[in-house]
Amino acid sequence: MNTAPPSAPATPGDALDVQPTPLALLLLGRDADPRSERGVECPGDLPSPSDPGLIERARAAKERLGEKVFVLGHHYQRDEVIQFADVTGDSFKLARDAAARPEAEYIVFCGVHFMAESADILTSDRQQVVLPDLAAGCSMADMATAEQVAECWDVLTEAGVADATVPVSYMNSSADIKAFTGRHGGTICTSSNAGRALDWAFGQGEKVLFLPDQHLGRNTAVRDMGMSLEDCVVYNPHKPNGGLTPEELRAAKMILWRGHCSVHGRFTLDSVRDVRERVPGVNVLVHPECRHEVVAAADYVGSTEYIIKTLEAAPAGSKWAIGTELNLVRRLANRFAPGLRHGEPQEGKEIVFLDRTVCFCSTMNRIDLPHLVWALESLADGKVVNRIQVDPETEKFAKLALERMLALP
Ligand code: 13P
Ligand code: SF4
Repeated sequence: MNTAPPSAPATPGDALDVQPTPLALLLLGRDADPRSERGVECPGDLPSPSDPGLIERARAAKERLGEKVFVLGHHYQRDEVIQFADVTGDSFKLARDAAARPEAEYIVFCGVHFMAESADILTSDRQQVVLPDLAAGCSMADMATAEQVAECWDVLTEAGVADATVPVSYMNSSADIKAFTGRHGGTICTSSNAGRALDWAFGQGEKVLFLPDQHLGRNTAVRDMGMSLEDCVVYNPHKPNGGLTPEELRAAKMILWRGHCSVHGRFTLDSVRDVRERVPGVNVLVHPECRHEVVAAADYVGSTEYIIKTLEAAPAGSKWAIGTELNLVRRLANRFAPGLRHGEPQEGKEIVFLDRTVCFCSTMNRIDLPHLVWALESLADGKVVNRIQVDPETEKFAKLALERMLALP
């Protein structure tokens, strides 16, 4: 359990006033930018969302495809989609599961673009990865472009620290950023192995450039690695030289990219204080993409898979406030609600959402039943739609970085 006191004042990087890149101006699904995680709208005719036969159609198409298709579902997916997933998981588990299914000709990835890219990198050339809606991107991944990161590396080189710096990139990044990481001797991490990734990286060099989620980087450095907030600096790609002096870069151990998740960024210290008042005895359990002060005030912190396992192991009658995406929290609240289970009454566990306001990930939510039906029916008719394919050069180095992650102890 995290017993650390609420931490020092928020660093400048904790504020959510990140200046948007031009990419953020693209309307979801209405435009295309090859560098964006957001992709473009689906071509083709989608079934109507009001079609009462959608569930049956998805089932029939999946049956027609048989062993040829493997459907992966991230925990943030809607219930209507997750029911068709062959496996569900956090980013790490899904990457491993995709790599462990060489017999499936088609991998349908119900998640977001960077996850589908990683699946393409980790599967064989014979396998084709499909993202049912190309507009399912990730705003955090969009906060670090290849050009910005190359410029950052030049700044580190100028300051004389690049040789001592190991890049560690969160899974939530484009294939280009993963390739940069592989090329420069670094590794990928997810929220379930970030501590082990940092441990490994500090065995290779003196500093880490952590991309693109400043919060996961800071939380892992301080909570798991025993560093102080002063060991961390924030590199702002919208400022000359990242807004840092060469001296600041030389003194830092963790150089955090100024990116964040807008979904998890909504949880504040007030949300924690408020729920503790509203629900006496509540355990606060949050995802490490939350701001540092929220994580420091929480009782438990971990990936989506960790959140599920913690609730499964929790005693009946316990109370929980969860700080992560709402589809997952709602599913868990229903699953553990008091009532009949297998004909037996169960006492249940009280599960509430950490914030009072609704907090879905809008891009995860892009994958809905009409898109899934469209993708599965097209595949069953022999037409591969919305294929995600990483170019060979990018794949080579991104794979290196991903394999380093998979080999972490
Ligand atoms: P997990 O790896 O914990 O599932 O989190 C991934 C995530 O934030 C997807 O946005
Ligand atoms: Fe990206 Fe946040 Fe959505 Fe995860 S929850 S896909 S980090 S925007």
